[in-house]
Amino acid sequence: MDKLRITGGKTLRGRVAVAGAKNAALPALAATLLTGDRVELHNLPRVRDVRTMLRVLAQLGAQAEARPDGGADVRVDRIESFEAPYDLVKTMRASVLVLGPLLARHGRARVSLPGGCALGERPIDLHIEALRKLGAEITLQHGYVEAKARRLRGGRYDFRTKTVTGTENLMMAATLAEGTTILGNCAREPEVIDLARLLGAMGASIHGAGSDEITIEGRERLHGARHRVIPDRIEAGTYLVAGALIGDPVEVTGCDVEAMRPIVRQLEAAGVAIAVEGDALRAGVPAKLTGQDLRTAPHPGYPTDMQAQYMTLMTQAAGTSVVTETVFEHRFMHVGELLRMGADIRIQGRSCVVVGPSRLTGAQVMATDLRASACLVLAALAADGVSVLDRVYHLDRGYEAMEEKLRTLGAEVERIR
Ligand code: EPZ
Repeated sequence: MDKLRITGGKTLRGRVAVAGAKNAALPALAATLLTGDRVELHNLPRVRDVRTMLRVLAQLGAQAEARPDGGADVRVDRIESFEAPYDLVKTMRASVLVLGPLLARHGRARVSLPGGCALGERPIDLHIEALRKLGAEITLQHGYVEAKARRLRGGRYDFRTKTVTGTENLMMAATLAEGTTILGNCAREPEVIDLARLLGAMGASIHGAGSDEITIEGRERLHGARHRVIPDRIEAGTYLVAGALIGDPVEVTGCDVEAMRPIVRQLEAAGVAIAVEGDALRAGVPAKLTGQDLRTAPHPGYPTDMQAQYMTLMTQAAGTSVVTETVFEHRFMHVGELLRMGADIRIQGRSCVVVGPSRLTGAQVMATDLRASACLVLAALAADGVSVLDRVYHLDRGYEAMEEKLRTLGAEVERIR
């Protein structure tokens, strides 16, 4: 199992280009199931989860060829199977995004329940409840969602809590339903807006993406399209935190600055000066980094996917900060490893109290989920001495060529088998 060996304390300087957003690429790939025409996707990140989703589509009968430029052409003119099997879904919960499109266009779907993950049990009850509202017959048995629908019917459904993939699944399902669907309390993430852009290019009628309420007029069929997925705001935010920790400075190019506003605002509140030039953001070690409380929230709040990275930064800030995670019931798996590196953090229910600055020292650490592994890489870059990060496959799920990008900035990092 791959490991990363990082020698900390090296000042980072230079420029990295942000990749396409993993969490926009995955629903975009699922949306190709909604038409028999070819869909041309661009700017897909070269990450493990995109490769997994391409395998899921191939398993369903899609012809999907990845292009050398990082794009992919997908054509699903016939479905050979309606099943997203457990061995694929267990490695990537986002496989559940094939449920809505399969039901809408092919009338059937058999998708493994995702099961638990490091972030808690993460059910898909809202996806199921909403699809039932559109007329799907759904049973849960043998660990699978068995769904069928002659044709989905438009209706009104209000999500009890905001769910990103729930909103995306239902948006896709409703594009081919009979009549109008109105979805309430929708997720407002930039990735939801990007999916609506792709669906619109495919001929769907969608209004309100990015707001709490989305209206979709069902169509008989959708057609092929070309689409470029938006830049990854979480990857970009991760490199900005690296700059704030040990940069002189670090510049991230190709950003969607508007989508990063919640992240930039929080970093600036802690004293980080962030320069914006076109689609480039720049951050270096601030004169004074002060402890600043954080509450994660659905967009336009501060993203939960940047909580762990921010906590690493707060270990170096002067004073106390309280980091509260409101989206997932426990997303503090990274705290134990940060403590072993010398951080001063106490978990109190859904919050962590971080006291800084503390001197981090290199250690053997283990990743548990994608963003926890990113926060441990950041801690290792700022620590004195050598760290070895185990289970790097978590990182590979969502960060394109991270060690190459870090080496470009002057970090001493190598992948060891
Ligand atoms: C998406 O996951 C992202 N993944 C996650 O990013 C991100 O952390 C999350 O949204 C929150 O922003 C993708 O977009 C592929 P949710 P998703 O449904 O859609 C509860 C990463 O690191 N809930 O918005 O699975 C759920 O338990 C990943 O890139 C239900 O109760 O998250 C959670 O507490 C990690 N029932 C909350 O809602 C449901 O049916 C938000 O989950 C669905 C969700």
